[in-house]
Amino acid sequence: MIKRNEFRPDRLDPMETASIDALRAEQLERLKWSVRHAYDNVAMYKRRFDEQGIHPDDIKNLDDLAKLPFTTKSDLRDHYPYGMFATPMEQIVRLHASSGTTGQPTVVGYTQNDIDTWAELVARSIRAAGGRPGDKVHVSYGYGLFTGGLGAHYGAERLGCTVIPMSGGQTEKQVRLIKDFDPDIIMVTPSYMLNIADEMERQGVDPHTLKLRLGIFGAEPWTNDLRLAMQKRLDMKATDIYGLSEIMGPGVAQECGETQDGPTVWEDHFYPEIIDPETGKVLPDGELGELVFTTLSKEALPMIRYRTRDLTRLLPGTARPMRRIDKITGRSDDMMIIRGVNVFPTQIEEEVVKVPEFSENFEIHLYRSGNLDSMTVHIELRPSFAHLGQVEIDKLVADLKHHVKSSVGISIQVLVRDQGSIARSEGKAKRVYDERNS
Ligand code: DLL
Repeated sequence: MIKRNEFRPDRLDPMETASIDALRAEQLERLKWSVRHAYDNVAMYKRRFDEQGIHPDDIKNLDDLAKLPFTTKSDLRDHYPYGMFATPMEQIVRLHASSGTTGQPTVVGYTQNDIDTWAELVARSIRAAGGRPGDKVHVSYGYGLFTGGLGAHYGAERLGCTVIPMSGGQTEKQVRLIKDFDPDIIMVTPSYMLNIADEMERQGVDPHTLKLRLGIFGAEPWTNDLRLAMQKRLDMKATDIYGLSEIMGPGVAQECGETQDGPTVWEDHFYPEIIDPETGKVLPDGELGELVFTTLSKEALPMIRYRTRDLTRLLPGTARPMRRIDKITGRSDDMMIIRGVNVFPTQIEEEVVKVPEFSENFEIHLYRSGNLDSMTVHIELRPSFAHLGQVEIDKLVADLKHHVKSSVGISIQVLVRDQGSIARSEGKAKRVYDERNS
């Protein structure tokens, strides 16, 4: 087991401010432990390492990590449900699962130590965002098998906050409770925050009159342009929280409130690498590629070089010495290829939110005629612009098409739909509707 510093709500963890040299030394010790733990206790790791002729004793420095094989989501599926657990079942105190696209859930487990570390890292995250003991935290991430709700919940409690465990859904009630309970902080996906903001508008609640001052938004990609739009609309600071269930859940990385320049990876527990997704080669910091994590302290489910499929870059530390990740462009699976051009939904979001007359909710519909793919972006006018005439709307649509053409490089169609007809998210938004095979 990895020894942790005692969590103190009133000051940063010494690891958060440790020098890079001290951090790297600690990471190496923890990496050796984690690789050994995985090898000794998970049959798959032992078999893979043996096949490659590599042994935990060969890890002498952090660069040696690159000698180890990758782990993928299909490994978890192939060992469903518990085949990759490294501790006996009686030490597992919690299970979570993510549904994924293929229907077969991915199951993750935690020992009591893992749960404690997770709570402390989410507490650390909320504090880095700007939260303090005594704040009221409204949690609208879903509770249940999804890690968002319970992850946020335990972290907020650990920091000494008052938690309002609202979970996702019941949007009308969300607004009522936010009005009545006066939370300081809201933790929710950015797309559900937009839905809640629309509901506030519908109920005539002016966000500027609310006490809410900080949003901790994550679980899906969102852009800096959306951040600016949300901060203005909601009169609160919007920060980015990143995580994935296979590695822990929310709180693998958190953006610091004072810099808002991309999530700081809690490197004392998770070692990040960026690889070329095609070749698997490790790329230098600053280059865009696929994010890979190795857990350094997890007991129940150690992950060695887990391929997240999230595309980003590693950036040097600012508010903390630990490295940051740039805002996630998207998952490699989300990439669309439109007439030879690679496009991510975030690139469309960036352009949509620049037009203040349009709501931030949008859908991307993909069609195929012959061999050619095309994209239609569905948008809505904001209620306050419902009075616009056709000529003005046509002008806005032409502007949006022009901006997408010049910044993304593709020609799109735009459909302005009736207000409220675009699906509103209650968790992770579904942005892309692929109608190419229907
Ligand atoms: O979404 C954990 C989480 C809950 C993170 C609440 C933040 C807040 P999964 O359901 O396993 O876990 O999904 C993980 O979501 O690989 C990314 O593709 C995406 N994701 C998570 N956070 C961000 C973020 C949770 N801040 C997958 N920006 C990850 C972009 C994110 N994508």
